[in-house]
Amino acid sequence: MTELDRSRPILPAEQPAHLAALETAVRARTSLVPRVGIVLGSGLGSLADELTDPVAIPFGDLPGWPSPTAPGHLGRLLLGHFDGVPVAMLQGRLHAYEGNDPGLVVQPVLLMGRLGARTVILTNAAGGLNPGFAAGTLMVIADHINLTGRTPLLGPNADEIGPRFPDLTHVYASVHRQRLHAAARAEGASLEEGIYVGLLGPTYETPAEVRMLRGLGGDAVGMSTVLEAIACRWAGIEVVGISLITNPGAGYSGEPLNHEEVLAAAAAAGPRLARVIRHFVRELP
Ligand code: HPA
Repeated sequence: MTELDRSRPILPAEQPAHLAALETAVRARTSLVPRVGIVLGSGLGSLADELTDPVAIPFGDLPGWPSPTAPGHLGRLLLGHFDGVPVAMLQGRLHAYEGNDPGLVVQPVLLMGRLGARTVILTNAAGGLNPGFAAGTLMVIADHINLTGRTPLLGPNADEIGPRFPDLTHVYASVHRQRLHAAARAEGASLEEGIYVGLLGPTYETPAEVRMLRGLGGDAVGMSTVLEAIACRWAGIEVVGISLITNPGAGYSGEPLNHEEVLAAAAAAGPRLARVIRHFVRELP
């Protein structure tokens, strides 16, 4: 049940058993109950250095989880204190473009919820669709458009986790968005707000796709976040999303995009994002 078998989808109805096994594996190492879960996107892993007395669990040590394949993604679940607040952090994440089933992609956030987190903060590196968003822009996710063609909720439901037809009217809680803006103001960091479009990847977009996604109402585009946000809402976990714009969307500058540039831009802006997140977490009720 908990062996990784990439040939089979992970059905929602199977998640309770997987989560029970994962919880047991975590509880063998720590009794820390996180208030919040934080998923660190590409190039943002250094936030984990700010944890005090962390217990770090490599993905490969958790039942059914693979080691990550993307450079810049370390692949560890950490539990510790962040500015005094008990948190779970995902350093690296499981992406669908790595061949991971959507049910696996969302297990980390479901696990965070199961361990006690009421709120999950999803961060990501993203391309700018909004022409006003230069590299280095921080964007609160106001809403998303899921164009991955995937959902983690396909198949028999687990009613004990969440409903068959989850409501997605308020995926990114507005009260938390306001708190994020307050945190950014207090830290002197500018913070935009916009719509995140989630694609499967792993290619970057064509310029024609970037124009289309902008026309659909997107402000940022990336290859993560939407499946995790859906799973959180299914499970009743509050979601906060922040994109770090690492590059203008393909075609805006005429320059080709590459992963190294994305990682470098994320690392450069990472400390600013870290300050905002730290302030936000410290002020959580
Ligand atoms: N497109 C998709 N994903 C991304 C991008 C992009 O331009 N930049 C960083 N992640």
